[in-house]
Amino acid sequence: MGELGELRVLRDVEDLRDAALAEVLTSAAAAIARDGTFHLALAGGSTPRALYAALAGSEAEFARWVLYFGDERCVPPDDARSNYAMARGAWLGVSPHAPTRVHRMRGEDPPERAALAYERGLRAALGEPPRLDLVLLGLGTDGHTASLFPGSPALAERERLVVTAEAPVTPVRRLTLTLPALHAARALLFLVQGSDKAPALRAVLAAEEDSPPLPARQVARGAARVTWLVDRDAAGDLAGS
Ligand code: 6PG
Repeated sequence: MGELGELRVLRDVEDLRDAALAEVLTSAAAAIARDGTFHLALAGGSTPRALYAALAGSEAEFARWVLYFGDERCVPPDDARSNYAMARGAWLGVSPHAPTRVHRMRGEDPPERAALAYERGLRAALGEPPRLDLVLLGLGTDGHTASLFPGSPALAERERLVVTAEAPVTPVRRLTLTLPALHAARALLFLVQGSDKAPALRAVLAAEEDSPPLPARQVARGAARVTWLVDRDAAGDLAGS
């Protein structure tokens, strides 16, 4: 794996959830010991839901956690398609001990205004450059991560930390962290499960050099530290699986 980080193949979704929980709690303890605070960016989609439910049932110094989002759909926070709504339904709204310092991307606002406001908030909360302690990420079947889709202008952004983006699926309008924001983070944690992700995972991790690198490969390649937690189904197309 080398430049793309560490790959851990877990037996099933339960083991993946448990390994992800351990990674997050370990990262949190280290950040709190170092700086007194743990700055964690959440992923959207469906894969992280089991992890969020496990966090809802966990003991941790959540008062020292500050949550952010890696991306958001441009919909209101109570829309079922909202990444915030998913995290709220699985964790933030069901546990009395959940973190209360949550920097939500305002999907209900005009997208460009919301992107600029979120970037200002990141810089105010994290300094320069804004260095998140851990960013959770998923992988799409097309090799996208966050809302950085293949061929998207958002992927080419090298100055801004948060931009608007367009997805090939609805909701089309998105807000997303950019490569500079993701590469400034201390660590990235990809969670990938299901046989439908096996071709994308192989394309990302075992890309032929002549093919244009998929978004998740570009994200992993320049990051400080990357861990891939995948289940056996998602790893099905990898050599040696
Ligand atoms: C989103 C996510 C997106 C997601 C992948 C995987 O807003 O949908 O940011 O990048 O992580 O599409 O989604 P699943 O976990 O649902 O497969």
